[in-house]
Amino acid sequence: MATTHKIKSGFAAPLVLNRTHFILALCLMVATFFLSRFLDRTVCSCGMLGQESIRSIADQSSTTQAVFGKNSLGWPEQGYGSQISIKIYVYDEWEVDGLKELLHGRDHSISSDSCAKGQWGSQVKIHQLLRKSSFRTVNKDEAQLFFVPSYVKCVRMKGGLNDKEINQTYVKVLKQMPYFRRSGGRDHIFIFPSGAGAHLFKAWEIYLNRSIILTPEGDRTDKRDTSAFNTWKDIIIPGNVEDSIALQNSGKNDVVKPIPLSKRKNLANFLGRAQGKVGRLQLLELSKQFPEKLEAPELKFSGPEKFGRNEYFEHLRNAKFCLAPRGESSWTLRFFEAFFVECVPVILSDQIELPFQNVLDYSQFSIKWPGTRIGVELLEYLDSITDTEIKKMLARGRQVRCLWVYAPESLGCSAMTGILWELQRKVRHFHHSAETFWLHNGSVVNRDLVPFNKWIPPMPLP
Ligand SMILES: *[C@@H]1O[C@H](CO)[C@@H](O)[C@H](O)[C@H]1NC(C)=O
Ligand SMILES: *[C@@H]1O[C@H](CO)[C@@H](O)[C@H](O)[C@H]1NC(C)=O
Ligand SMILES: *[C@@H]1O[C@H](CO)[C@@H](O)[C@H](O)[C@H]1NC(C)=O
Repeated sequence: MATTHKIKSGFAAPLVLNRTHFILALCLMVATFFLSRFLDRTVCSCGMLGQESIRSIADQSSTTQAVFGKNSLGWPEQGYGSQISIKIYVYDEWEVDGLKELLHGRDHSISSDSCAKGQWGSQVKIHQLLRKSSFRTVNKDEAQLFFVPSYVKCVRMKGGLNDKEINQTYVKVLKQMPYFRRSGGRDHIFIFPSGAGAHLFKAWEIYLNRSIILTPEGDRTDKRDTSAFNTWKDIIIPGNVEDSIALQNSGKNDVVKPIPLSKRKNLANFLGRAQGKVGRLQLLELSKQFPEKLEAPELKFSGPEKFGRNEYFEHLRNAKFCLAPRGESSWTLRFFEAFFVECVPVILSDQIELPFQNVLDYSQFSIKWPGTRIGVELLEYLDSITDTEIKKMLARGRQVRCLWVYAPESLGCSAMTGILWELQRKVRHFHHSAETFWLHNGSVVNRDLVPFNKWIPPMPLP
């Protein structure tokens, strides 16, 4: 448009025009006309291209911008709707007998703050963010989903409840919830933020096997024969990266400030404990053979050799690739941390399930390598990737990492936004279960034909 304008005013300026000038100007006008038509068309087709590739968010930086631009997180239309519109009821701890124990232990002495830190802090953060969310409703009758808060992972670790108490308390809580009974739990959301997943509640399979479970785990089959995770019903949430790392103000946080690729000491690193796992032991072995390529100091639980927090990140950011092999469970926090120090995460965990797979194309910013091929071949492969290619992957990772940050949905892009979008897909207009019936006039009744509003706890379960 700017060129057109310039040429037009150039044409109008001369006071005296001779024939040659006139013909020349005419030609220019025609040329400009066709040029601007051509430009219009190119711009238009670019726009359409952008629309099409939204599904793979990190496809091209221009597309990514369109999706993750300032406060404008978009979501593919298919099956989601183009905006979040959802009503979630959050149970209050005083409202259901037993809920307070699931949150703060048998003598209510465990504080929310003490449970908000560390790998499993997401159980507290999601609860708190939902309480402040604009999608929260205090009216159960208009709620589409129900969130049942609990910090049992933390409570159990701090001795606030033992396994038997956890099981009994959950059952006690569920029996007092007519809305849980109405849907058989289908519209109720539970969070289990650790490797054990829903197994923390021993009888989960009887009571929660239809509910929506939020968990960072795809599976935890090492010590059990069944996985509590169902890929179509449950939602994978990002691991809880420490706030000071995730909420970095670019440049201010030296601990995770990315180091230029050419200055990084190692090709790859693995900074975790071996936990006696084959893949991890292979990495430690490999690092002894090729110390200049792979850094893998075996981390100690305690003692003088234990890595401090800053030291840990100092090492993590000093490689181009951060290896994330499976340990006790299939996911590892390191995968998420890699995005903040800007190394390319390499997943060595065949069974992993990843958050927000409905929109993120993980091949754009990470690598998944077979757990059965950990060896020299892996290092040679990583070594063959050029810095230019690495930079592209890191740039795309930078665009999506906001989805790993537990911050309010009002920010546009955050873990909470991702979770709400996923929850929205689970919303059903109608609720029923094997123990719910309905009559000609819309009255919902139980097996004894008692209408829903007269159901009196404790409910028979399951
Ligand atoms: C869990 O608690 C319920 C209710 O008290 C009980 O019936 C069930 O046997 C318990 N299950 C386990 C595995 O402890
Ligand atoms: C879920 O629980 C119900 C009730 O105990 C049981 O009949 C059903 O088999 C369970 N389903 C699964 C998939 O475990
Ligand atoms: C619906 O019909 C049943 C059976 O006739 C009756 O008992 C009930 O009161 C009705 N409910 C409403 C909301 O009208």
